[in-house]
Amino acid sequence: MRIAIVPGSFDPITKGHVDIIERTGKLFDKVIAVVLVNPTKKPTFTTEERVDMIKRVTGHIPNLEVDSYSGLLADYARMKGAQTLVKGLRAVSDFEYEFQQALTNKILNPDLETMFMMTNQKYMYLSSTIVRQIAAFDGDISEFVLPEIKDDILERI
Ligand code: PNS
Repeated sequence: MRIAIVPGSFDPITKGHVDIIERTGKLFDKVIAVVLVNPTKKPTFTTEERVDMIKRVTGHIPNLEVDSYSGLLADYARMKGAQTLVKGLRAVSDFEYEFQQALTNKILNPDLETMFMMTNQKYMYLSSTIVRQIAAFDGDISEFVLPEIKDDILERI
């Protein structure tokens, strides 16, 4: 079985993330969206909240599993028998950071391939950080996140 992992902080999950997960689901037998720890960020939502929000906006994807893990992504992939990591790529500014992570993950787990999926151009400049910022200034986030989780975000921020 071909299993792909879509990893991230998902703090919170945006329409851009959902787009990548949906498209990955069409290419692989199974896709796992996993909430991981990014030590460079201090999350706004707990891991449980982030997993719950992902589940609420991805119920229509039949071959998706949603999970969380607090260790290395390379180890998680081995544990799950996944062959591929899929990361969304937006602007050129993502590249350096993603390149470093892909090369590091390759050293930690040589059997694991990282593939980059081009963002949908609608979501080219979208990020969880932007969503949190708009919410913090009472802006309208409905263009960027799905209605099922909009109120959770507004209440928290
Ligand atoms: O959505 P993000 O914050 O860009 O995702 C980054 C994430 C969570 C995928 C990355 O920080 C990660 O893989 N964390 C788990 C720990 C790990 O494996 N670190 C080494 C990767 S080079």
